[in-house]
Amino acid sequence: MKYEIMPAEGKLGILMPGLGAVATTMIAGVEAIKKGLSKPVGALTQMGNIRLGKRTENRYPLIKDFVPLTDLNDIVFGGWDVYKDNVYEAAMNAKVLEAEILNAVRPELEALVPMKAVFDREFVKNLDGTNIKHEETKYQLALALMGDIQHFKNSNQCSRLVMIWCASTEKYMPPCEIYESVESFETALQDNDPRIAPSMIYAYAAIKMGVPFVNGAPNLTCDIPALIELAKEYNVPIAGKDFKTGQTLMKTIVAPGLHARALGIRGWFSSNILGNRDGLVLDDPDNFKTKEVSKLSVLEEILQPDVNPDLYGDLYHKVRINYYPPHGDNKESWDNIDIFGWMGYQMQIKINFLCRDSILAAPIVLDLALFIDLAQRAGMSGTQEWLSFYFKSPQTAPGLKPEHDIFKQLIKLQNTLRHIMGEDLITHLGLDYYQELVEAL
Ligand SMILES: NC(=O)c1ccc[n+]([C@@H]2O[C@H](COP(=O)([O-])OP(=O)(O)OC[C@H]3O[C@@H](n4cnc5c(N)ncnc54)[C@H](O)[C@@H]3O)[C@@H](O)[C@H]2O)c1
Repeated sequence: MKYEIMPAEGKLGILMPGLGAVATTMIAGVEAIKKGLSKPVGALTQMGNIRLGKRTENRYPLIKDFVPLTDLNDIVFGGWDVYKDNVYEAAMNAKVLEAEILNAVRPELEALVPMKAVFDREFVKNLDGTNIKHEETKYQLALALMGDIQHFKNSNQCSRLVMIWCASTEKYMPPCEIYESVESFETALQDNDPRIAPSMIYAYAAIKMGVPFVNGAPNLTCDIPALIELAKEYNVPIAGKDFKTGQTLMKTIVAPGLHARALGIRGWFSSNILGNRDGLVLDDPDNFKTKEVSKLSVLEEILQPDVNPDLYGDLYHKVRINYYPPHGDNKESWDNIDIFGWMGYQMQIKINFLCRDSILAAPIVLDLALFIDLAQRAGMSGTQEWLSFYFKSPQTAPGLKPEHDIFKQLIKLQNTLRHIMGEDLITHLGLDYYQELVEAL
């Protein structure tokens, strides 16, 4: 049965708290693509194909030709930042893209000026911008954000909006009672409770305005019972958390392969150096703690040491991130993996990934914006687990363990698309038509 999906008519506004390296690289890329100057490499929504039906049918359409997604020409951008730089200036400062390409889309980028941010240095010590809202309470800050959202929608004549958190990683916050229900959360907003992070105020404002919310950082943000409940109440899809790029992307590609062949792993030591503003923020131990929690859970969930104690029971897993300014956005990561095979014989794998963080993150932001908008038009609300493919620490339904294996995540994403479009799900069994092929010989 096919879902009733509203057509992607009119403009889609993509609103981003945080117009830093990731957001500006995404925006500049989309503007360059619209002018035919570049291609959307890495974006499944633009360049990915999907198989439909049996292999004998040879149906492999582009995903964008299969599901009704917003056309890139119908997207408008907006956002908030604690610094006043317009998107052209911010992209030049981020030094991810060359001046030549940024100059080719300069008027479009210069027109994007950040709105005043909801910011609290208690959550991000290493930033000190001045483009900040001041209100009596956190509840009033939320109302001010709702005003921004409405104003943006009217002035850009958008028919739909989505919000994607591309701002800095906030300090680690353990779950607590004020996050437990909408009621306790709203009381805490009125009381200016110090445990309510700015990212939660953005998520609250978005959901109350019926705007889907995606969390690209490892902060809890919308991954708390209060906001999950609110999203269900307002029929809004939400997803998070922490874009899966760089080292964790590699980890969730390699670990399922070793696990699939029943090879043992004794140790996995991961270190990173990066020199962008994200690296500066993560240099603070409180902010690193948030990232560390997000990165560490990946291996445990893929390898399941409790189910496979002989192979993974003694696994030692460590993650280090160091701020190293000379590398800028060009993060370098090293992984040392100690594995063992037949009769316990030891082997080693070394991975040295010279990646570009924002180049890997930008297409993820675009895909998430287009897919969460699709989810809303298809009437899906609450946590969108089928988007786990894009996250280091995927949000799931309460009590469910997240799926980290990138291949299972892809199958889930593709089957969700097939499901909402009324196509057969693919099990990769194939026995039915193998037999037909053999008999036809
Ligand atoms: N690049 C990647 O591969 C990657 C992967 C996973 C997660 N992330 C996360 O994505 C986020 C963005 O990364 P980035 O490299 O663009 O960082 P960045 O430091 O370049 O940009 C973040 C921007 O957010 C702004 N900001 C901070 N707090 C804000 C607030 N409360 N409201 C509005 N703006 C605020 C900062 O001023 C900054 O301009 C970070 O949280 C990072 O951890 C990035």
